[in-house]
Order: sequence, then structure tokens, then C-alpha cells
Amino acid sequence: MSSAPCPSLLVLVAMASAASGQLSPTFYLTSCPSALFIIQTAVQAAVNSEPRMGASLVRLHFHDCFVDGCDGSVLLADTGSFVGEQGAAPNAGSIRGMNVIDNIKTQVEAACTQTVSCADILAVAARDSVVALGGPSWTVPLGRRDSTTASAALANSDLPGPGSSRSQLEAAFLKKNLNTVDMVALSGAHTIGKAQCSNFRTRIYGGATNINTAFATSLKANCPQSGGNGNLANLDTTTPNTFDNAYYTNLLSQKGLLHSDQVLFNNDTTDNTVRNFASNAAAFSSAFTTAMIKMGNIAPLTGTQGQIRLSCSKVNS
Ligand code: HEM
Ligand SMILES: *[C@@H]1O[C@H](CO)[C@@H](O)[C@H](O)[C@H]1NC(C)=O
Repeated sequence: MSSAPCPSLLVLVAMASAASGQLSPTFYLTSCPSALFIIQTAVQAAVNSEPRMGASLVRLHFHDCFVDGCDGSVLLADTGSFVGEQGAAPNAGSIRGMNVIDNIKTQVEAACTQTVSCADILAVAARDSVVALGGPSWTVPLGRRDSTTASAALANSDLPGPGSSRSQLEAAFLKKNLNTVDMVALSGAHTIGKAQCSNFRTRIYGGATNINTAFATSLKANCPQSGGNGNLANLDTTTPNTFDNAYYTNLLSQKGLLHSDQVLFNNDTTDNTVRNFASNAAAFSSAFTTAMIKMGNIAPLTGTQGQIRLSCSKVNS
């Protein structure tokens, strides 16, 4: 026998290493066939008891993916060896739903031990939340693994803030390989959920010229000039618990809650995309699902990288 390696084996090895960076919708088909059903059932129950939870779960996936990729890092509590993301400015006192993810994780672990990652649970829960609130569905690529670390500094630098300009938003998304249409479409997630007074106070009291006067007045009732920082307002003033395209029709009448919402329709380059999504619900659904899949593909850990956490809030011991 010759000692030269078999050429077809080389091809297989090359294919396997190329494929290790890829996610696949059928990743758990044989290793944990009940995973998707368990997640969907739990998300539906959580949204039934509190519609806003759907919004919180969508945001959790976004905040995971934008910080060092979709690796479940946002779920890690602080430890002696690192300061995690939960105390970072965009997350502190604001991200929610970790208890729902923990509950799902417990159920999935009972069905298939150490098989389904927390990062994948977040991605599927985000999709199921959108569907539970009446929005479009999509097939979620799977096979992400969980990080063994988290970064408060990256959460602060890579998650855009509500005071961002349009060009700052474009740059923050481009850094994640998401283009301007993706950015406008993903911002449409603000068709559900709530924001705290501290995040829109400047806009309603600061003399912004691009806010509907009656809308600003109505917001002041529950968002005083000082105090009440945590008081909530709906991001979509018309249909807050329905995943539809009302976010964009609101922008057309200058009823975006955050500064970073209204800059998307402010006599500038993204106006036509906003008009398109406002008048064409199908165009929004299509752009949103495409962009969610792109966002879910940001720098996943795959193959033997990272780990499958047993508990989403802490690294395996
Ligand atoms: C474009 C840049 C973005 C900025 C500046 C931004 C900023 C914010 C802020 C400040 C809040 C309110 C947080 C609070 O007051 O506690 C919020 C809520 C929310 N964001 Fe964003 N966001 C952006 C993009 C996104 C994206 C891409 C998604 C998902 C695809 C998303 C989903 C949500 C959801 C669903 C809520 C409501 C959460 C809840 O009610 O618990 N946001 N966002
Ligand atoms: C919109 O932008 C154009 C070009 O920058 C400018 O000429 C026009 O005055 C602006 N219109 C409004 C209403 O601000």
C-alpha cells in the first residue's frame, strides 16, 4: 500500500473544515428533534402571559449578536474573571427575558443533555416571538455554540445608542456586515416593545424639530422633565403588541419614539426605504427576515469552538 494520503479523503477533510463555519437549519434534527417544539411552546406561553416578553426576547438576540457574534455572551452573569455584558450601558436595567431563556434551557436539557446551545435558543426564541406577535416567520440556521467569556467593553462600543445619528447607525451596522437596508429593516423590530423615559426625554423636551407636537405632549404625561427615568412608553404608538409595519407609518408622521428611530425618516437617504416599508408590508417582512438571518449569522462559534453551556448564565465548571 502506498503511504500517500487518499485524494478523496483529502477532499472530504477540506469539505468538513469549510462546513464547520456554516450553520444549518437541520442541525438538531437527529440530536434533539424536540428542541424547536419545546422553544416554540415556551415562547408562546411567555408571550401569552405578557406580550412585551416577545419584544424583550427579540432584543436579547440582537444584543447577543452585535457583541462578539451570536454566542450567548449576553446571558453570562459577571464572574471573578470577567465583567459581563449585563451591566453595560445598553443592557443595564433594560434587557429582559433571561428567566424565560433559563426556563427553556432547563426543559431542553431534560430532553437532550448538553446538545442545544444558549445562542441557538436565543435565535429561535427571537423568531418564535415575532411569529407569536403576528409577524413573519423564517427558517433559523442552527449550530451556534456558546462563548466562555463576555465583554462589557464591547457591549458599550458595538451596541448603538438611542441618540445615534443616521450615519452612526449605518456605521454600527456596517461593522457587522449589515447594510443600510438591513439596518432600516431591523429597526422595524421597534414595532413591538417599550422604552424607558430616560431614553427619549431629550427628544420630547429638547426642542426636536422632527417630532409630532401632539405625540410629544402625550408622552410628557408619563415622562417628566426630571424623575421617572424608568417610566415606559410604547416604541410603536399605534399597535405596540403586533409585529406589523406601523413603525414606518409612525415615522412618516414624525411619531418615532427614539431619536435613532426618527433619523431614518428625516429628509435624507433612508427616507425612500421607510416609505417603501410603510406602504408595502410584504417588502418589510421580506427585508426583515433576510436581515434577521444575516444578523443571526454574525461570527458564530461552531464545530468544537466554545461549549454547550449547561446553564445559560454561567460557563461550565
Ligand atoms: C438601530 C439601532 C437601535 C437602537 C439605537 C436601539 C435602541 C433601543 C432602546 C434605547 C430601547 C429601549 C430600552 C429601554 O428603554 O429599556 C430599545 C428597545 C428595543 N429594541 Fe432596539 N435599538 C436598535 C435596534 C434594534 C434592533 C436591530 C432590534 C432587533 C432586531 C431591536 C429590538 C428592540 C426591541 C424589541 C425593543 C423593546 C424591548 C422591550 O420592550 O423589552 N432594536 N432599543
Ligand atoms: C431636505 O433636504 C434638501 C437637500 O438637503 C434641502 O434642500 C431641503 O430644504 C430639505 N427639506 C426640509 C423640509 O428640511
